[in-house]
Amino acid sequence: MFIYRTVSLALIAGLTTGSANAAGPKLGQAAGDIEIAVVDIDIAPDGDGLPKGKGTVADGVEVYMEKCASCHGSRGEGGSASALTGGIGSLATNAPVKTVGSYWPHATALFDYVRRAMPYDKPMTLTNDETWAVTTYVLWLNGVIGRTDVMNAQTLPKVRMPNRDGFIDARDGRPK
Ligand code: HEC
Repeated sequence: MFIYRTVSLALIAGLTTGSANAAGPKLGQAAGDIEIAVVDIDIAPDGDGLPKGKGTVADGVEVYMEKCASCHGSRGEGGSASALTGGIGSLATNAPVKTVGSYWPHATALFDYVRRAMPYDKPMTLTNDETWAVTTYVLWLNGVIGRTDVMNAQTLPKVRMPNRDGFIDARDGRPK
């Protein structure tokens, strides 16, 4: 996350000081539509904010092998970076393995996270189509969707993650 934070702070600093803009400093001026659009990329759990486009497993394997496998392993088994697959059903054991498949409650967060933070050494360089493709591939690697499923702004929010109901409200300690 450190690299991502550095990049985003530099980006925000550039936007607010205008250092990335030949037009000069913009302190005290309202941000324009384009400046806001660059940083307004969050996606809600229900899919609000997802861009147009779609991903297939076939497209995803190409992007994944080129831009992700070197750190996460060719099938998401992990390498220099953590595993993206496996661990389903392990969370309540003595050896919990937290992955996208075992831990993440919302599939939409995968699109959001990958688009803003991955590849780790080049965050925010993926196109939306590339992000759709790898998101689809990683969900398929986890067995969460089928080989021919197509992910888009309509289908991704409907994907049911295995740990969807595994999060409890920590403010309410009463047994359910
Ligand atoms: C240069 C190495 C590298 C590359 C390339 C890379 N990642 Fe990562 N990835 C990391 C590291 C390191 C982390 C842990 C980041 C952290 O915790 O701050 C991570 C974390 C993740 C996570 C979160 C895992 C979890 O459960 O916490 C996902 C999902 C992910 N990467 C997907 C991808 C995808 C998809 C690609 C290709 C587009 C990719 N990564 C490319 C190094 C890499």
